[in-house]
Amino acid sequence: MAKMEVKTSLLDDMIGVGDMVLLEPLNEDSFINNLKKRFDHNEVYTYIGSVVISINPYRSLPIYTPEKVEEYRNRNFYELSPHIFALSDEAYRSLRDQDKDQCILITGESGAGKTEASKLVMSYVAAVCGKGAEVNQVKEQLLQSNPVLEAFGNAKTVRNDNSSRFGKYMDIEFDFKGDPLGGVISNYLLEKSRVVKQPRGERNFHIFYQILSGASEEFLCKLKLERDFSRYNYLGLDSARVNGVDDASNFRTVRNAMQIVGFMDHETQSVFEVVAAVLKLGNIEFKPESRANGLDESKIKDKNELKEICELTGIDQSVLERAFSFRTVEAKQEKVSTTLNVAQAYYARDALAKNLYSRLFSWLVTRINESIKAQTKVRKKVMGVLDIYGFEIFENADNSFEQFIINYCNEKLQQIFIELTLKEEQEEYIREGIEWTHIEYFNNAIICDLIENNQTGILAMLDEECLRPGTVTDETFLEKLNQVCATHQHFESRMSKCSRFLNDTSLPHSCFRIQHYAGKVMYQVEGFVDKNNDLLYRDLSQAMWKANHSLIKALFPEGNPAKINLKRPPTAGSQFKASVATLMKNLQTKNPNYIRCIKPNDKKAAHIFNEALVCHQIRYLGLLENVRVRRAGYAFRQPYEPCLERYKMLCKQTWPHWRGPARAGVEVLFNELGIPEEEFSFGRSKIFIRNPRTLFKLEDLRKQRLEDLATLIEKIYRGWKCRTRFLLMKKCQVVIASWYRRYSQQKKYQKIKSSAITVQSYIRGWKARKLLRELKHLKRCNEAATVIAAYWHGTQARRELKRLKEEARRKHAVAVIWAFWLGLKVRREYRKFFRANAGRKIYEFTLQRLMQKYFLEMKNKMPSLSPIDKNWPARPYLFLDSTHKELKRIFHLWRCKKYRDQFTDQQKLIYEEKLEASELFKDKKALYPASVGQPFQGAYLEISENPKYKKLKDAVDEKIIIAEVVNKINRANGKAASRIFLLTKNNVLLADQKSGTIKSEVPLGDVTKVSMSSQNDGFFAVHLKEGSEAASKGDFLLSSDHLIEMATKLYRTTLSQTKQKLNIEISDEFLVQFKQDKVCVKFIQGSQKNGNIPTCKRKNNRLLEVAVP
Ligand SMILES: Nc1ncnc2c1ncn2[C@@H]1O[C@H](COP(=O)(O)OP(=O)(O)OP(=O)(O)O)[C@@H](O)[C@H]1O
Ligand SMILES: [Mg+2]
Repeated sequence: MAKMEVKTSLLDDMIGVGDMVLLEPLNEDSFINNLKKRFDHNEVYTYIGSVVISINPYRSLPIYTPEKVEEYRNRNFYELSPHIFALSDEAYRSLRDQDKDQCILITGESGAGKTEASKLVMSYVAAVCGKGAEVNQVKEQLLQSNPVLEAFGNAKTVRNDNSSRFGKYMDIEFDFKGDPLGGVISNYLLEKSRVVKQPRGERNFHIFYQILSGASEEFLCKLKLERDFSRYNYLGLDSARVNGVDDASNFRTVRNAMQIVGFMDHETQSVFEVVAAVLKLGNIEFKPESRANGLDESKIKDKNELKEICELTGIDQSVLERAFSFRTVEAKQEKVSTTLNVAQAYYARDALAKNLYSRLFSWLVTRINESIKAQTKVRKKVMGVLDIYGFEIFENADNSFEQFIINYCNEKLQQIFIELTLKEEQEEYIREGIEWTHIEYFNNAIICDLIENNQTGILAMLDEECLRPGTVTDETFLEKLNQVCATHQHFESRMSKCSRFLNDTSLPHSCFRIQHYAGKVMYQVEGFVDKNNDLLYRDLSQAMWKANHSLIKALFPEGNPAKINLKRPPTAGSQFKASVATLMKNLQTKNPNYIRCIKPNDKKAAHIFNEALVCHQIRYLGLLENVRVRRAGYAFRQPYEPCLERYKMLCKQTWPHWRGPARAGVEVLFNELGIPEEEFSFGRSKIFIRNPRTLFKLEDLRKQRLEDLATLIEKIYRGWKCRTRFLLMKKCQVVIASWYRRYSQQKKYQKIKSSAITVQSYIRGWKARKLLRELKHLKRCNEAATVIAAYWHGTQARRELKRLKEEARRKHAVAVIWAFWLGLKVRREYRKFFRANAGRKIYEFTLQRLMQKYFLEMKNKMPSLSPIDKNWPARPYLFLDSTHKELKRIFHLWRCKKYRDQFTDQQKLIYEEKLEASELFKDKKALYPASVGQPFQGAYLEISENPKYKKLKDAVDEKIIIAEVVNKINRANGKAASRIFLLTKNNVLLADQKSGTIKSEVPLGDVTKVSMSSQNDGFFAVHLKEGSEAASKGDFLLSSDHLIEMATKLYRTTLSQTKQKLNIEISDEFLVQFKQDKVCVKFIQGSQKNGNIPTCKRKNNRLLEVAVP
């Protein structure tokens, strides 16, 4: 069912007629009524054959959704109701599938919807072409170039709130698959006069308002701008805000788009700096100042703005100021400098602003092109989209050079439309010998000639006037026009003598009028010469070139004094003419697709269809003639060869090869297919098909045939595939069967084999067991005989042994008895000699033996040589007690000496110091034990190495004994402040810790006493000699972590320098001289609140309490 609803023709549910070719009767009224009817039913697109007429709906219609894109994708042009997407799809597919470069020409008045149409085409093509990360990035960059160019090149005009003030032609490049590769944008003459002056009810370019509304405060401040339109002379005030336009959010869109297109942050910044500079230039004002020679000279009124511009752009202020007051003319080798009067200065200022802005715009286009350039060198297919400023007429003869140029461009586009649709089509029928009745239409070639003819054209006259020596004014230019063009049919002026318009009061004397294809336009000559010359004083371009701003420098290459070119640059008119000519040439090489935009009303309002306005547009666009030509003609034509190639598969005679002329082949083909004769005609080289339906029928048949062919190929391929598969399977089956048989036989054989082995092993086992039994019996018999024999031999042997033992015992008893008898006899004889000597000898010997043993054992048990080793072996015998102690003492003395002998002189000094500290503080100060293990380093701060203390080091030229940070206790509140404490050979110094400046210096002779508590704190007072110079500020009360070391060193140094012992008082209460009064410092047991840090507090005038935890 769903399929039934799908449209298959534009005729389905048609409102009016979708294609004007089908309109009956065909006349102007029916044409307009049809458009109106469709417009009232929200159908804004209507075809004339393949040309799309688009009426601006002035409201957003739900016809551009992604679903719509899908609907139009890959569908034939006449299948669905008219839409810009159908044209885009047709163009894209013929580019992709038939390899034809395309161009989409969008024409219409200002506000007719050209720019919107171009964006719709681009977004459709982007949606249907290839996908993928890389392709998407290219698309995104192409699409995002639009908001950037629109911000800088579009402005609100009375006709259009977003009027393009430049022409744009964009080539989108594709690869062979139809994936976009990149693009190239060409821009045509920006209407730069708008920068300095806007007609009533119009605005300057959008970007100025966007910056001021959308930039952050910080950014504005950076650009030295203020968020107030009224501050800037270049911003016309009467229509600064446009309904429905949010400049601030557009600014964010533009910045975002710039980022996507690939502008670097610094480039974006530079661009906005230039924009800001242009805006601020407008605020520079001049006043006249008389000079000695009677001439007026201009002076800048308020230099503040100039200063800010120079800061922003890095231009030397004096250079720019000079360029606004003088003009240097160079002729050959000579340089002449003249002063500028106020008017000239304003002229120079505006010229600079216009040039800066228009060059910036061209730079933007170049920069975008750099980003969107295709990265490959492969052959590209191209789709060009042309969106140029529309034809415009101002009332009250306000039309100037810009309108002249814009209208000329539109004239050329109309010309190319005529060339390609009306003229070319009719000429082709004649060329091809097709029967044809000629259709009249207005050819505007004559107007183009009036403007661009190389000898007598208006542009040529203007150039001639500009280049001519002598006084040249707009009036002389008009005079010249009057002479040369007066007789031209489309030129009107009152000045020429034989003028037909001598009495036409609607034509002022300073104007000329051209009858354009789209109506009469009256041009005011004022400014033509200036604008065509587009003169910027060289001093200004040189000043710009000197700017310390890479972008501005690059915008004014001619300011480089090394590249001075005395030749005049080409005029604006001739440049434009040349670029339009190139464009036309380019368009002619491509397959054109037309979108003709029509403006339904002058109010920019939805739902209003002003018939007179539409009628005027239809007339000058030649749309009716267009329909007539289409209706009389043929919808489609193609040379015979490609036609035969495309459809030859539809007929047996021509498939697969036709031998003979292509035309004959096509004839056979068409006859065979039974196409009615009135539907086609044979030209000389082409076949002409009258109705698109015939073409679609052919296409459908071709598609069907291609499907059949595909089925055939598929059938054969599938058969072949199945057969080869079958053969392969058969071969496999044989191999598998043989393997299987082999395997099962192998299994059977294995089973038989293993059964035989089992039977065999049983029999063998039985036989072996029988033999074993017999052998075991035999063996047991043998063993029994051996055992019996052994028992017998044993009994015999034991009997013999017993006898022998009895005999031996008797013999030994005899020997012992004999010995005792002999001993008794000897003892009786010698008893009297032994008692006299032997006892003493034995005692001495025993003693000697014990001593020897004692010393030998000591040798092995000796303790280590460390003087602090307390080990000593235990005493072995009581009688050696005193010896043992003495030996221990001697050994200890000996090893101490050994230890001392290793010391160097420096170590000796350290130990001396430690010894001194021990004598001074041991058992007196609780801090002492903790200091024993710490080496005395003296210089804790590396005064000589650290560059921070260079000053301090330079001030002290003696050797530094102590350099350490101490806390100096403030007399008033007991708070501590860090100081550097230095002790040198002769002085004690205190210096500021940060700056290193010396605060006090006391000779050692003036130090009388050092006081400290007996507790575990680092406070100490240095008492100074009364009356000495240092004592005037009072004693020092300090605190340090290295108190013991400091006091010891101070004591030793004083001793060596003054030969007097420094008094060190250790007491928990002592007096300190503070300026005039003596204050008692009292140490008390404090709480552990602050950890282990003692706290110091001033209790009253006479008491400072230190709480030691
Ligand atoms: N298809 C559309 N749908 C809705 N609104 C449209 C459409 N086309 C145009 N418009 C409206 O008309 C306004 C003018 O259109 P656009 O800027 O395209 O005109 P233009 O022909 O480019 O004019 P110019 O020659 O001045 O640049 C747009 O800003 C938009 O509001
Ligand atoms: Mg536009």
